[in-house]
Amino acid sequence: MSVILAIESSCDETSVAICDNGKITANVIANQTIHENYGGVIPELASRVHQQNIVPAVQQALAIAGVDKKQLNGVAFTQGPGLLGSLLVGVSFAKSFALALNLPLISINHMQAHILAHFIDQPMPSFPFLCLTVSGGHTQIVLVKDYFEMEIVGETLDDAAGEAFDKTAKILNLPYPGGPLIDKHAREGNPNAYQFPEPQIPGLNFSFSGFKTAILYFVRDRQKENPAFVAENLADICASVQHSIVNILLNKLKKAAKQYHCKQIAIAGGVSANSGLRNALLSLQDTLGWQVFIPKFEYCTDNAAMIAIAGYHKFLQGDFVGQEVAPMARMNF
Ligand code: KG4
Ligand code: ZN
Repeated sequence: MSVILAIESSCDETSVAICDNGKITANVIANQTIHENYGGVIPELASRVHQQNIVPAVQQALAIAGVDKKQLNGVAFTQGPGLLGSLLVGVSFAKSFALALNLPLISINHMQAHILAHFIDQPMPSFPFLCLTVSGGHTQIVLVKDYFEMEIVGETLDDAAGEAFDKTAKILNLPYPGGPLIDKHAREGNPNAYQFPEPQIPGLNFSFSGFKTAILYFVRDRQKENPAFVAENLADICASVQHSIVNILLNKLKKAAKQYHCKQIAIAGGVSANSGLRNALLSLQDTLGWQVFIPKFEYCTDNAAMIAIAGYHKFLQGDFVGQEVAPMARMNF
């Protein structure tokens, strides 16, 4: 028997999930809307809101799963990477909760959990597979050899793909977080309306900082000629930017698939919710003979279900941590 309660608090979502013998029976996500007023996540505010949200979220998750806390067998939590003040709330709560109920503690790496979200529902990939993990803070191509044996074979040297979306949105005066809004406007636009240069980075690494600057200058120059340029061409700009980001990501993924002779390809993280990326990947399924794994929308952006499924697999391996465990803003695999 294994009923695992999992806590995710690495950024601005307080999430609590229950995994009952490998099946997710609750996944409560309390969003923090306060950051919209500031155009980005304010770490101190995020930490404070986590403190307010965490106890109600735990109670709600237990109620939805129909589980009493005495029936739990383990407590999983995100140890890192993430915002230190945010992580601290989840880690402290998990430690006290486990201590009070005499339960084993299971530490989870947030980036590994994004990938392990593929083991929540069928169809599941088999090892080894390649996963493109694209979120607000990370852009990685990971060779997944086993549940907790992963190798980063390519990553961004500066900004993450999610940042490229969010910073473009900021340039276009769209509210935070801009990624989903660019996706929405892109649906109405022409992806070939404008061309942006593809960064020339060797190997499997990425760079998005020059790309962001190119968009900034492009918008500034066009606005000099026509101050209403953005408003009049928003859909075409969004579609073209999205198309370029997706191309940059998929060109490297194709290279990695060739290099590692891998045909099982997955995507994970917040940006994997992007419809342009999802559709482009699906079309490669036929042209390159890939077997593609795309998470359900609710498991793309931050959630505790992915922490719970990762926790379940660590529970099966008896991989626990002690009360001395501390949050880590930066954390390697
Ligand atoms: O994984 P996530 O929820 O949090 C981190 O661990 O960073 O990823 C958040 C990122 C943000 O940059 C957000 O704009 C982006 O994912 N995102 C999207 C979409 N949905 C979320 N980007 C593009 N299109 C989307 N539909
Ligand atoms: Zn994340």
